[in-house]
Amino acid sequence: MDSYQQIFENNRAWVQGKLAVDEHFFEKLARDQKPHFLYIGCSDSRVPANVIMGLDEGEVFVHRNVANLVVASDNNINAVIQFAVEYLEIQHIIVCGHYGCGGVKAALHPTDMGQLNSWLQNLRDVCRLHQEELDQILNPAQKYRRLVELNVIEQCVNVIKIDHVQRKWYQTGYPQVHAWVYDLHNGLLKELDVNLASYFSSIRSIYDLKISDD
Ligand code: CO
Repeated sequence: MDSYQQIFENNRAWVQGKLAVDEHFFEKLARDQKPHFLYIGCSDSRVPANVIMGLDEGEVFVHRNVANLVVASDNNINAVIQFAVEYLEIQHIIVCGHYGCGGVKAALHPTDMGQLNSWLQNLRDVCRLHQEELDQILNPAQKYRRLVELNVIEQCVNVIKIDHVQRKWYQTGYPQVHAWVYDLHNGLLKELDVNLASYFSSIRSIYDLKISDD
C-alpha cells in the first residue's frame, strides 16, 4: 500500500481508537468548539501544533504559513484572527517560530525565489528593522537563530496592529499575545524572554487605532 492510501487506513484506525476510549467522542466534538488558544505557526511538516503543545482535538485554533508571518494584506490570516477573537473569544494568541526555518534562512541569503519573493520580503523587512543587532552577530548559526526569534516578535507586533485585536483588548483585556520558538533538535517549546507589553507600549503611539466601544 502506498503512503497515500495508507492515510485512509490510518484514519479508520484513529477513529476506532477514539471510539474505544469514548463512544460519544465525535458526537461531543461535533457540537461546538471552544479552544482557548490561537496558534500561528510555520507550515513546516516537523512542527505540528496540537502534537507539540500536547493538546487534543478542539483545544487549539490553528493557522500555519511559510515562516509564521502575520501580513496585513493577507485576507486569510485576517479572517482567522477576527474569527478567533470575536467569535471564539480566544484568550491567548501564540506566534510560534522554529529554529531551522527554511523561510527565515532564505531571507538571510537573498536570491530570486519567484513566487516566494513577495512573501519573503516580509522577512527581509524584519532583517532591515533589526539590521544593527543582526550585523553584530558574527556566527552565522547564531544569527540565523536570532532572526527566527526577531521574526516571531515582529509577527506578535503585527498581531496587535490589527483592529479586531485592539477592539477586543480594550473591551476585555484579552487576547494576550505570546512569542514562542520551537527547537527541532530537542522538541522543546520556549517562550521568548522579551517584554512584549513594554515593547508594545513603546510603539503604541504609532499603531494604536484609538478604538473605543462607543
Ligand atoms: Co519554518
